[in-house]
Amino acid sequence: MYDVPTLTDYSAAALEKAAAECIRACSGEAAEVRSEAELKAFRDRWMARKNGILTQINDLWLKGAPKDAKREAGIRVNELKSRIQELVEGAHVGHVAAESYAADHVDISLPGIRRPIGAEHPVIKTMHEMVGVFTRLGYSVAEGPVVETDYYNFESLNFPVNHPARDTQDTLFIAGQQGKPQRERLLLRTHTSPVQIRTMEKMRPPLRIVIPGPVHRNDPPDASHSPMFHQIEGLAVDTNITFGDLKGTLDHAMKEFFGSSVKTSFRPSFFPFTEPSAEMYVSCFICGGSGRRGADPCRPCKQTGWIEILGCGMVDPNVFEFVKDSGYDPRKVSGFAFGMGADRIALLKYGVDDIQLFFQGDVRFLGQFV
Ligand code: PHE
Repeated sequence: MYDVPTLTDYSAAALEKAAAECIRACSGEAAEVRSEAELKAFRDRWMARKNGILTQINDLWLKGAPKDAKREAGIRVNELKSRIQELVEGAHVGHVAAESYAADHVDISLPGIRRPIGAEHPVIKTMHEMVGVFTRLGYSVAEGPVVETDYYNFESLNFPVNHPARDTQDTLFIAGQQGKPQRERLLLRTHTSPVQIRTMEKMRPPLRIVIPGPVHRNDPPDASHSPMFHQIEGLAVDTNITFGDLKGTLDHAMKEFFGSSVKTSFRPSFFPFTEPSAEMYVSCFICGGSGRRGADPCRPCKQTGWIEILGCGMVDPNVFEFVKDSGYDPRKVSGFAFGMGADRIALLKYGVDDIQLFFQGDVRFLGQFV
């Protein structure tokens, strides 16, 4: 067992040697600890205020040092103390590890470590379900880049340069793009609609696609806003597609998704890339459209009995002009498009009251959706 020696030589070399021996002894003892009781004894032996080894070192090496060596000895002893402290604190960890993993301590009759299986995130699950509704109608899935050009996010969707309609989407722009022509400048897509154009450039009509994916807007986060959220877009183009097809398709999709008793309602709206445009509401699937839950007002529909779900409309002929060369002659084809917020739908569907919960990664929250 290590004993603190009395020093006669206070030279740097001698102090160094004494400190090294002390550290070696301490780490050797740390490795020998085999039980809680031994750990406690080890700690006390080294750290006890009264006559612990560190206290002894303080007395013997520091207080006992001649005047001219005090400074040097003080520095050394302090270094040594913190090293010993580390070793003593670390000893606990080493002790636990030794007990649970050392070959002679493995109890093969114990049950194995259960590795929890993850589950789909509620937003992703909602997207998959909604996409499923449309793939069963014969739609294909299309995707596109999240970092988009001004051209695809705005210009080709009939948002003219400097048009105030761009202001309704608080765009996050990529820095350092001023050197490029406007249409090539990069931004985070504010909606999934650019994938309409990208897909029409690649595929000739007739076309039926559903487009899930993340989008970004410069909205400060609160209970119903997040700078990153998800949309599900749809586009159908063929000869003779009418607003009746739009209504019929979406009404069917909402009944599939929310249940056959929901009704849909279309109200006039505006989007640069659709004409006419509408907002579609579904009758509140929480209160059944009554606006009340027993004696209480229904909160999700704000007592109106209707919940706004998506934006939609007939593809504006100006949009087809941008993809005319891929076979989309606005005089020959027509189409409808729609876009909805997946996060919002997930909030409503699961009765979650704060969108931030979807993005905080707290397993106590996510575990409820397994
Ligand atoms: N892109 C629109 C938005 O984000 C939604 C939309 C999509 C509207 C397709 C009409 C047609 O607000």
